[in-house]
Amino acid sequence: MQQLHTPHVVVVMGVAGTGKTTIGPLLAARLGVPYAEGDDFHPAANIAKMTAGTPLTDEDRWPWLDAIGGWAHGRAGLGGVVSSSALKRSYRDRLRAAAPGVVFVHLTGSRELIEDRMSHRQGHFMPTALLDSQFATLQPLEPDEAGVAVDVAGSPEEITERAMNALKALPEPVQ
Ligand SMILES: Nc1ncnc2c1ncn2[C@@H]1O[C@H](COP(=O)(O)OP(=O)(O)OP(=O)(O)O)[C@@H](O)[C@H]1O
Ligand SMILES: [Mg+2]
Repeated sequence: MQQLHTPHVVVVMGVAGTGKTTIGPLLAARLGVPYAEGDDFHPAANIAKMTAGTPLTDEDRWPWLDAIGGWAHGRAGLGGVVSSSALKRSYRDRLRAAAPGVVFVHLTGSRELIEDRMSHRQGHFMPTALLDSQFATLQPLEPDEAGVAVDVAGSPEEITERAMNALKALPEPVQ
C-alpha cells in the first residue's frame, strides 16, 4: 500500500465499459481506502426505470449524484474511491457541490478498445448505439476541474499504476 499524505477522495469516471468497476477497487486498495460502486446509490425509482429499460433523465440523476456526493463528502480527509460515469460537466458540478474536494480520474480509451472489452463482458450486452451515445454525451474534464485523464490501454494493474502516478502529481486536497 502506498499512502498519499492527505488521502484523496477520487471519483473514477468515464464511458460505459471503460473499466470503472474494474479499476476503482484496485485503486482503492493501492490507496488503502474504501471503494463504493456508484451504481449502488440509485434510488429505487431509478432502478425500476432502468429495469423497465427506460433511459434516465437528468432529473432522475440528481438524487443519485447527491447520494454519491454524500458518500464522497463523508470520506473527506479520510480518502475513498467511488465510481460514477460523470460524463457531463453538470454531473461533476453536482458531485463537487456535495463534496468540494473530490478529484476525478477519467478513464479514457478508444471506442474500438472499449467496444472490444464490452463484447467480452459476461452477462452484459451493450448495443453499439448505447456506446455511441456515451461518447456523444461525454464532456471531458476541463482545465479548472481537479482531476487526471488515465489511458486504459494495458492490464488493470498497469492502469492502476498509471492512475497512482497521475494522482501523485496533483496538489493535496484542501480540507
Ligand atoms: N484493463 C483491462 N483489460 C482487459 N479487460 C478489462 C480491463 N478493464 C476492464 N476490462 C473488462 O472490460 C469490461 C468493462 O469493464 P468494467 O465493467 O470495469 O467497466 P465500467 O466502466 O464499470 O462499465 P459500466 O459503466 O457499464 O459499469 C469488463 O468485462 C472488464 O472485465
Ligand atoms: Mg461499472
